[in-house]
Amino acid sequence: MQNYMDAVKHFAESHVTGLTLIFVAGAGLLGFRRWMAGGVCRSKARLEGKTVLITGANTGIGKETALDMAQRGARVIMACRDMTKAHIAADQIRQKSGNGNVVVKKLDLASLQSVRDLAKDIQENEEHLDILINNAGIMMCPKWKTDDGFEMQFGVNHLGHFLLTNCLLDLLKKSAPSRVVIVSSLAHQQGKIHFDDINLDKNYTPERSYSQSKLANVLFCKELAARLQGTGVTVYSLHPGVIKTELGRHLYPTLASWKKAIVKPFMLLVKRPWEGAQTTIYCAVDESLANVSGLYYSDCAPKTPAPQALDDAAAKKLWELSNSMVGLA
Ligand SMILES: NC(=O)c1ccc[n+]([C@@H]2O[C@H](COP(=O)([O-])OP(=O)(O)OC[C@H]3O[C@@H](n4cnc5c(N)ncnc54)[C@H](OP(=O)(O)O)[C@@H]3O)[C@@H](O)[C@H]2O)c1
Repeated sequence: MQNYMDAVKHFAESHVTGLTLIFVAGAGLLGFRRWMAGGVCRSKARLEGKTVLITGANTGIGKETALDMAQRGARVIMACRDMTKAHIAADQIRQKSGNGNVVVKKLDLASLQSVRDLAKDIQENEEHLDILINNAGIMMCPKWKTDDGFEMQFGVNHLGHFLLTNCLLDLLKKSAPSRVVIVSSLAHQQGKIHFDDINLDKNYTPERSYSQSKLANVLFCKELAARLQGTGVTVYSLHPGVIKTELGRHLYPTLASWKKAIVKPFMLLVKRPWEGAQTTIYCAVDESLANVSGLYYSDCAPKTPAPQALDDAAAKKLWELSNSMVGLA
């Protein structure tokens, strides 16, 4: 034992610089990882008797959000496009939360008919809807079109949710106080609404399209909140952080090998889905937000979005355009 201790001491004394560097780098990485993890929703709010609808709840942030809502006692409606994946996720959530009131409903946001069908089902069969979480999203796919001929990222991330929310507004108002939570992204900062070429037919790039759709999310939140003033329905948009989910499924395969080699270790440092769901959960339940509406959040705190996301005229213009595109006007 004495020999062993002497050997350790000798090793430490002769490698002071190296060991100090390893310690400092390790502490730095841990600190960075902690910082990346972001805020946590501390609210203990219970949701017995409340109904929560979450789009894209079979995986990623949406699935973690659904689990949290189920653990708080809510009736959880998981609105998903892939029924097989959704039923597997719902089984896991029921088992983990001990809440049997978790149901799956079909929703393909790339089809306005599918959105209308789900909205009709909810209007006819749910007595109330207390929290609507527009979470589903697609990022940086090739130039695809929705069933209705709209550019895919704008169609799924914004237009589908725009129609769904509008179709459910009467139920949300009837259920007030109720909330609409819109999952946007920091990518909105690079965004511009191309009013003269909304489907980006003239100049499509996956990045332009994603950032346009995420800017549309923040502008939609702003305009919806203005239109819902005094109704008891409050609206929030948010950036969830950078999270290891399936969102990169269209981007990752297009990356060069050297870029993949850089991305891989970085992925160890980004948020887990539970951490990524915290700002959504905060906006959905935190008591301090009960009388606040129309703001943008990140890491469980209000943040100032990009200047183009604060443009009232653009928010109104986008509302009118979206209205006509989905056939509400
Ligand atoms: N992960 C991040 O770092 C990050 C950063 C900023 C913002 N966000 C936002 O966070 C939200 C959730 O993303 P995530 O990271 O959890 O990604 P994810 O793991 O890929 O989950 C996305 C969900 O959206 C669903 N979805 C995609 N297209 C749909 C459609 N046409 N109809 C209905 N559902 C559809 C997916 O269903 P399938 O499984 O059937 O495809 C899946 O359930 C998105 O709005 C995203 O823009 C994420």
